[in-house]
This record gives sequence, structure tokens and C-alpha cells, in this order.
Amino acid sequence: MHGTIDLAGDSHLRAARDKAQSIPLDEFDVGNPELFKTDTFWPYFDRLRREEPVHYCKDSMFGPYWSVTRYNDIMDIETNHAVFSSAASLGGITIRDVAPDLRRESFIAMDQPRHSAQRKTVAPMFTPTHLDQLAINIRKRSAECLDNLPDGEVFDWVDQVSIELTTQMLAVLFDFPWEDRRKLTRWSDIATTLPGTGGLVASEEERQAELMECATYFARLWNERISQPPKSDLLSMMAHSDATRDMDPQNFLGNLILLIVGGNDTTRNTLSGSVYALNKNPGQYRKLRDNPDLIDSFVPEVIRWQTPLAHMRRTALEDIEFRGKQIKKGDKVVMWYVSGNRDEDVIERPYEFIIDRARPRTHLSFGFGIHRCVGIRLAELQLKIIWEEILKRFENIEMVAEPRRVYSSFVKGYETLPVRIAG
Ligand code: HEM
Repeated sequence: MHGTIDLAGDSHLRAARDKAQSIPLDEFDVGNPELFKTDTFWPYFDRLRREEPVHYCKDSMFGPYWSVTRYNDIMDIETNHAVFSSAASLGGITIRDVAPDLRRESFIAMDQPRHSAQRKTVAPMFTPTHLDQLAINIRKRSAECLDNLPDGEVFDWVDQVSIELTTQMLAVLFDFPWEDRRKLTRWSDIATTLPGTGGLVASEEERQAELMECATYFARLWNERISQPPKSDLLSMMAHSDATRDMDPQNFLGNLILLIVGGNDTTRNTLSGSVYALNKNPGQYRKLRDNPDLIDSFVPEVIRWQTPLAHMRRTALEDIEFRGKQIKKGDKVVMWYVSGNRDEDVIERPYEFIIDRARPRTHLSFGFGIHRCVGIRLAELQLKIIWEEILKRFENIEMVAEPRRVYSSFVKGYETLPVRIAG
């Protein structure tokens, strides 16, 4: 039997399950952000994995697209990068095509051989030695942030902890002016929000104007760093590297936004998701409190359970038959990590949050193949340190109301999460 989420007790989720069971499969549009805003997408993916694991949606707000929903099929698409392209010129790596005049290249949205050449320039940032140095800074900043949280009062965990700590981390990575660090959050949010939906910007023009501000700001920092001897921050590394030094400015901005978004939204939403998951599973919270050594498997389990990026997209470079379906050259193929991470054929009891799973790193949240996330070690390190510091200080972080979720089928996360801390 395939996994299904327990929806008992929640009427809008029960209604979603009924609808997902009753409507014809050719009416399925699992990329609709509304399903993610309301957290009602699960039963649609359950049915797709069971009945039509490679599915074609012929019409949606993002145009037609294929959905690949099973774990092993997603790995097959990821490893066949000769046929399934990430190129920005074909629309990029999310279900929403980037408009042709707004395409900026970054190495996540590039094919070989340029992808590997540019990826290599940032890899030294994520070596164990460099991470050991960063760890000291992360622990100090985390401790300061946690020590300043209100005691016994309700506050927003997303704003005061998740955003603050991931922003601080990015500021350290880029050696970015400390007082301006929230600009990084703003640019990341702008880069991933659909204009007119999240209330951040009203139009694409406004969005581009803010991203230009980001480009100008970083161009100034870049010029400073290139005129100084190489240092160990990411910007200095990129400025002094052969592969990026003479890069076209749009490509440079694309890579910067990639690193800001890559390191921001994802870790932020995992950190919020960790508090949410523990509140929904109090037995697991007790287990963690009683045995903090479990943090090592708790962290990858949260990353699987949350799946902070719901999907990545590829574009077919040629006609190909895949699992009995005829995918045509130019078709958009969406790999739903959020579904693969609930595939019962690969993950035991996938809907359950189990902090001491035997193989917690069996998940797709970081992708697979040549584009597999470059920041895995940093993301896990950061979450581990923060939770070590949390467990030293607080008996309980109590969620006092349901979170408000992001309107997106790409970034799967939380806008707010009201909590109260009991020391
Ligand atoms: C790529 C997820 C943290 C930087 C990716 C991909 C995913 C992902 C799904 C694409 C994989 C694919 O296409 O196969 C995550 C998650 C994170 C996280 C879930 C945290 C829980 C970070 C951090 C950084 C980062 C902290 C850096 C500061 C990148 C970069 C790429 C990438 C640069 C592009 C890699 C390439 O194309 O070769 N990440 N990420 N990520 N991530 Fe992460």
C-alpha cells in the first residue's frame, strides 16, 4: 500500500483528500501555489504516485508541464542531464519560466561544461576546514540571538530566529556589511516571490528595480574585494577566480542571487519546520530533549520532512520515452521532491517524523546528480549548532497558532510561526 497522510480531524484537509480522489487525473495541476499555501497538496501527490507517477498537466498558470513524482524516477531524470537540461535559456529550474529578457545565468541553471567550471569556484567555501572556522562564528551568533528572545511572551519564530540566523550566516559568508544584512533577506525574498501575490512587490518592474539595487550593491563590494588581496569570503573567492573574474555582469548577479537564495530560504524554512515538526510530534520532542545526541539524525530527518524546495525543473532536449510516456523536445519536466520524499517504496513510514531513523539521509531535499546542493554541509552544520544551543537553553518552544505558509509551489515554507518559550 502507498502512504497517505493522516488527515483526520481537519475538515479542509479532508475536503482536499476527497477532491483529490474524485476529480479526473487529467484535471490535476499540482503546481498550483494555492495548494501549497493551504498545505493541501499531499493527497494529489499520493494519487499520482499510485496511479500516474509521470503525469502531464496540459494547462496551468505556468503553462503545460510534466510531473515526476516517484523517488527513483526523480533520480533517473536528475542523472540524465544530457537529455534533461537546466539551462536558463530554456526557462530555468523552476516550474515558472523566467521571461526571456530577464534571464540571468547562474550555475544552477547551466549545463556542462560551464556548470562544473563555475561550481568549482565556490566549492572551497564548503570544505570541512573552512566550515570548522565558520562553526565558531555560527555558535556565537546563535547563542546571542537565542539569549535575546522574549521569555514567556508570544513572538514570531520566523522573523526573530529563522530569518535572523540565516541572514547572519549569509552576511558572514559574503563578509557583507553587518548593519545592512537584512537587505540580503529582502533580495532573496524578492527573487523567489511572484509579483503581486506575496505583497512584497506589485509588479515585475518593481521586482527588477530591487534586483538592480542588489546588483549595484554587490558590484561595489566586488570592486573593493578585487582591489584587495584574496580573502576567504565567498565574494573575494569569486572575484579572484579565473572562471568568474571576467564574467558577464548578468551571470555574476545570477550566481550571487543563487547563493543568497540557496543559503537563505532553504535553511530558514527548515529551521521553522523543525519547530513545527516537533510541536506536531511531542513524543519526538521528548526523545530529543532526553537525548540531544539524536540531533545528528534529527537534522536530516527535518530536512526530508520539510523539503524546503518542493521541486526542481528540467527541460527535455530531445523527444524521449520515459516510463511509457512520450516526452517531447522542449517539454517542461518538474521533479517533485516533496512527493519523492513521501514515496513508501523507498522510505519507510514516510509521513511520520522519526528523529532516530536508520537512514535519515535517504531523501531528495538536496536534489541529486551534478547539481546536488553545494551547501549541504553548511546547512546541516548550521541547523545542528542552533539546535544544540536551543536544547541547552529552553525546555520547550511551544507553537501557539498554526503557521502562515508561503504562496509558492517552489519555496515550501512559512511566513509566520507564532511561538512562546518556556525556559
Ligand atoms: C542547489 C536544496 C542549503 C547553495 C540546490 C538544489 C536543491 C537545494 C534542491 C538543486 C539540486 C538539483 O538540481 O539536483 C537545499 C536545501 C538546503 C540548501 C534543502 C537547506 C536545508 C544551501 C546553502 C547554500 C546552498 C546553505 C549555500 C550557502 C546551493 C547552490 C546550488 C544548490 C549554489 C547549485 C548547485 C549546482 O547547480 O551545482 N540546493 N539547499 N544551498 N544549493 Fe542548496
